[in-house]
Amino acid sequence: MKQDWYQSAVGYEIYPRSFCDSNGDGIGDIKGIISKLAYLKDLGIDFIWITPMYASPNVDNGYDISDYYAINPEYGTLEDVKDLIQQAHEMGIKVLFDLVVNHTSDQHPWFRDAKSSKTSPYRDFYHWKKGKDNRPPNDWIGFSGLSTWTYDALTDEYYFHLFDQKQPDLNWKNPKLRQAIYDMIRFWLELGIDGFRIDAISHIQKADWDVKLQDSKGDGAYQPFMNVSGIEAYLSDMKAIYEEYDALTVGEASGVSSQEAPKWTGRNGYMTMLFEWEHNYRFETGKGDVVKFIEILDRWQVDMQEQRWLGLYLENHDLPRIIDTFGDGSDSSAKAFAVAYFCLRGTPFIYQGQEIGMTNGDFKTLEEFNEPKMKRRYESYRQLLADKEAFERAKAWSKDNARTPMQWDASCYAGFSTVKPWLRVNSQYREKNIALAQKDEQSVFYLYKNLINLRHHSQAIAVGNYQRILVGHEAVFVYQRQSQTESCLILVNLTAEKVSISMPKVIRDKNWRLVLSSEKEGLKLKKSLSLPAYFYAVYQI
Ligand code: GLC
Ligand code: CA
Repeated sequence: MKQDWYQSAVGYEIYPRSFCDSNGDGIGDIKGIISKLAYLKDLGIDFIWITPMYASPNVDNGYDISDYYAINPEYGTLEDVKDLIQQAHEMGIKVLFDLVVNHTSDQHPWFRDAKSSKTSPYRDFYHWKKGKDNRPPNDWIGFSGLSTWTYDALTDEYYFHLFDQKQPDLNWKNPKLRQAIYDMIRFWLELGIDGFRIDAISHIQKADWDVKLQDSKGDGAYQPFMNVSGIEAYLSDMKAIYEEYDALTVGEASGVSSQEAPKWTGRNGYMTMLFEWEHNYRFETGKGDVVKFIEILDRWQVDMQEQRWLGLYLENHDLPRIIDTFGDGSDSSAKAFAVAYFCLRGTPFIYQGQEIGMTNGDFKTLEEFNEPKMKRRYESYRQLLADKEAFERAKAWSKDNARTPMQWDASCYAGFSTVKPWLRVNSQYREKNIALAQKDEQSVFYLYKNLINLRHHSQAIAVGNYQRILVGHEAVFVYQRQSQTESCLILVNLTAEKVSISMPKVIRDKNWRLVLSSEKEGLKLKKSLSLPAYFYAVYQI
């Protein structure tokens, strides 16, 4: 079976602002990342994805780019980037950057020029439209929960944005804009990076402006900009460039269904792999729905069999920590979820801090948050709930939960910086940090090391088929991965309770060897089994 390098590889997401500060200004930077490459190598990481480090006014911490060709001085220089690439490559670590091409910052020279007059040569780089009776051109609602249109008095027109009003959307229908983006993509690949995580890529094409919202509540409201037809041509253009450089590409593809996704990835697709968003389903309280989590992961695994490929993840810079959402606050829950996703078919990503089971930030006041939406979220909960509950509820949804500084050791500011960092350090850092985890063989850190090792060496885990095994309990995830030469069985109880399951005969009849487990001896695979809370085991033949 021919195997591509990324099928047995493990990625690591770095949120540079919070990873490591090398020069004592409280903000993580490129030299800081370089200083931790040896750590990542030791963990077993094959490639890193670094969220945007381009010039930006930081309305959305780098996802609002004001110059695609410049590095934000807070992070360092282009020379530092070259150093980073070189040193990472010397260690055998590949480097992915973030490609943000759905929108720019409103401070990008293209937008500033576009905004200055209707005849600007850059006007058509963005979407502009006249309003109707002092109202926006249509009733679409963006991801901020507000209208997708902002009025510009100077030219008496509205411009379009899916995210913040300071992040105007680019007009992909314009061939000049496309060419400018394609040139930029080449620039970074020429510089030597190995690929991209592609931001919000399923939204670059918009439906006709007169399309009416079908359902303004659920995801239906987003249909006019989710995987809209016409997007195929742009994705194919980009794919041709990636291929010239043999680049690894990971698309953030929310709104692309598991039935549509197969044509997006794999050897004949538009990109190497994609991230789906569905399994992150959470209740209004912010708590994850474990049963749906399993069901959705299972559906994606089935729909993406054959030559298709997924990026697998539990956490990222947009989601609260897994321990607090899907788990029960314990390291045991962190471990069970780790095993559940890591052995699926696809390339697993670890988000910084996940490898030691970092928990949600312990923010005490609204002022301590950085996320612009936090205040508005709090105010809307405040209409229904008492002050304290409204705060807790709003906090439970905040992206800042996962953006607190990385906890390297027990020294002041968790070894992230020598001064007070840009975002509050979680006070758990004295008990939970990399240095301590490395000394404790029972830590979440060592489980990840073992899982990475397994992924590197097991053909079944890398490229084997996937099959779910039903065991009579919907929050117990059991699946088999099978290649021509090897099988693995993954068994995880994703609840905080002891549960009973029944193991099918075809599974128990095999001669499994225990590879790793939460219980020293694992469990013998009998007909009826009682699984301790957050039990996990991986078996192999
Ligand atoms: C993606 C990023 C998120 C950002 C948004 C707009 O979802 O992960 O952080 O705010 O795109 O670029
Ligand atoms: Ca710094």
